[in-house]
Amino acid sequence: MLYTPIKFRNVELKNRWVMSPMCMYSSENGLANDFHYVHYGSRAQGGVGLLIVEATGVEPRGRITNYCTGIWNDEQAAELKKIVKFVHENSDSKIGIQLGHAGRKGSTWESKQIPVEEGWETIAPSPIPYHPSERIPHELSSEEIKELIQNFKDAAKRAVEAGFDVIEIHAAHGYLVHQFLSPLSNTRTDNYGGSFANRIRFLLEIVDAVNEELNDDVALFVRISGTEYAENGWNIEDSVKLAKELKNHSVDLVDVSSGGNIHGAKIPVYDGYQVPFSAQVRNEADVKTGAVGLITKNQQAEEILQKGEADLIFVAREILRNPYLAVQGSFEKNEECFFPHQYLRAKISS
Ligand code: FNR
Repeated sequence: MLYTPIKFRNVELKNRWVMSPMCMYSSENGLANDFHYVHYGSRAQGGVGLLIVEATGVEPRGRITNYCTGIWNDEQAAELKKIVKFVHENSDSKIGIQLGHAGRKGSTWESKQIPVEEGWETIAPSPIPYHPSERIPHELSSEEIKELIQNFKDAAKRAVEAGFDVIEIHAAHGYLVHQFLSPLSNTRTDNYGGSFANRIRFLLEIVDAVNEELNDDVALFVRISGTEYAENGWNIEDSVKLAKELKNHSVDLVDVSSGGNIHGAKIPVYDGYQVPFSAQVRNEADVKTGAVGLITKNQQAEEILQKGEADLIFVAREILRNPYLAVQGSFEKNEECFFPHQYLRAKISS
């Protein structure tokens, strides 16, 4: 199954390998540059079905660090468009972008908050910092929430114009959208806090606004944290309920990660440790899912697909180590069609 195609709207991926979004902390003013061009271009040559550009800020405060990519202006979109063009003209891979907002986890460097003069005042659904030593984030007004939803919509419009095939909304890892989902970081008393329906409202409104900018040639994914490993926190049952809603709001795939919202939460890490969350969401909500987290081998990925635990395999660190992961796997299986045609000569050994 790993080397069989799959379709989301009109977007057909040639295989199930996905380069997971990974911040590279290598931008100035949110602009992608030569590093990103080669970094993403080489993964496309490496044969993945889809590569997803790192968490990209929908406004300046949406970045995690000063060096994150952004898509809040046309200049940034123009740089990203060069990467999209390369991927489309030189490979059969599709390319997506993860749209994100860091919320209370912004204004950092190397996971530590930086002073407001060097960074910015952070924002969140409620005035609760990620760690007690950090500044109290500004509590968003309902007016400001509307502006943020508009920021996501504008970012999606730019991404579509740049030619991306997939938009992924980052609702995981304790960033702004996740902060709204969790009762531990969202203690609002208006219609964006309290009940489950209220806590997921921000995400659903983003999904609807983004979908207005999409057409059948651009698919919509959402990354969630299946659980945050904390008592009374967001859990897998919430994720299943949310996934059903997302499906009703025309989300094509739920990419199931975990953690990130609760400082010091204990995460049991082992090969494929987040796959059970993907399996549960897939089977109970009847949605397509992506599995991610310590999936590094062909055989392991194949088994996850065969068992019906996921539809796509997201790979992060292993594809930094080996950009040719997907091509190599297809070589082992003698699936020549996944080679860039220039590399077919590698099959001639004498
Ligand atoms: C990440 N991860 C990540 N996740 C995400 O949703 N958006 C992002 O921008 C990033 N950035 C990022 C940078 C770096 C350097 C790493 C290593 C990871 C998480 C990543 O996508 C993935 O979910 C985890 O790394 C687990 O998968 P692996 O590495 O075990 O395959």
